[in-house]
Amino acid sequence: MHSDFPIGVAIDINELYSNSLYKSIAIKQFNSVTPENIFKAEYLHPEPAFFDWTDADSLTNFCIANNKRLHGHTLIWHQQLPQWILNFQGNSSDWEQLIKTHIQTIVLHFKGKVTGWDVVNEAFNEDGTLRNTIWRQKIGAGYIEKAFIYAHEADPNVLLFYNDYNLESNPNKRNSVIGFLNNLRNRGIKIDGIGIQMHINILSTEATQVASALQSISNNDYQIHLSELDISVNPLGKDITPSQSLFTKQANLLGEIVLQYKQIPARYQYGITFWGISDKTSWIIDYFNREDYPLLYDDNYLPKPAYCKLKETL
Ligand code: G3I
Repeated sequence: MHSDFPIGVAIDINELYSNSLYKSIAIKQFNSVTPENIFKAEYLHPEPAFFDWTDADSLTNFCIANNKRLHGHTLIWHQQLPQWILNFQGNSSDWEQLIKTHIQTIVLHFKGKVTGWDVVNEAFNEDGTLRNTIWRQKIGAGYIEKAFIYAHEADPNVLLFYNDYNLESNPNKRNSVIGFLNNLRNRGIKIDGIGIQMHINILSTEATQVASALQSISNNDYQIHLSELDISVNPLGKDITPSQSLFTKQANLLGEIVLQYKQIPARYQYGITFWGISDKTSWIIDYFNREDYPLLYDDNYLPKPAYCKLKETL
């Protein structure tokens, strides 16, 4: 896929090693990789004093061998935490030490191999207030700046992102995020970019919304990663029949979004990452327990109209 910026994909390590079609598409069609799950605390840091690098190093070696950029997802999130963190007892400085050790051990381990990290994921509510996550409860709102400081100390060269959803469709949330991050930056804290997850759908997402989101974020001098792009064609969970017209709508929306993304200055184009390869293994199917076809490849790993539209638009 020729493009002036990276076109990435979220990789499921089990699919990569069990499905040769999945692997060949990952190698041939994408030049950036985001681990869908195995860089999360539940998998990397399963016990207080034990980090399990097995799968993460295997994926890292795959990226090196196949010349793929590796994007780290995610250092601090309130989901997919190991039991020992959920049960951890201590005061706020004990919790600060916990996240410092977690972040710095991981960032150091991947130094020179990971290009950018989602340092903090999904810390804001839809109304723009800070989500009352375990991290905020135990450390206070300062956990976010601490996370960015710790990551920067461990690897001064790695790019540091804040990642969240609905930033393309919810100006309140987006403006709160930008304002919060600008405040940290004004105090000398390094924040390089914002990941807009882009879990969108053909019924409600407007390309014009995306355009203003890209404008407001790049105007604030943040690199932009469309970090988890998928386009649901069945957001209402109806009993649908996959049709050419549905997939054409999906393709056209993707084309408009890519055209908008191409308009932002190149220095802000961190890339576009699709949250999976085939409809068959999209998180959406299990999470919402519904029929859906959100990705570039169908259940048989054949390219859909969205894939063709992407290629012609890039
Ligand atoms: O690891 C276990 C495995 O041992 C077990 O056999 C299997 C069956 O129960 O479950 C496996 O864990 C699943 C995990 O994915 C790995 O496959 C969890 O149940 C499942 O909940 C988890 O879902 C992931 C989800 O994050 C968790 O919230 C999705 O794959 C992943 O695509 C999704 O990704 C998130 C981003 O990280 C952040 N933004 C939102 C996005 C969608 O939720």
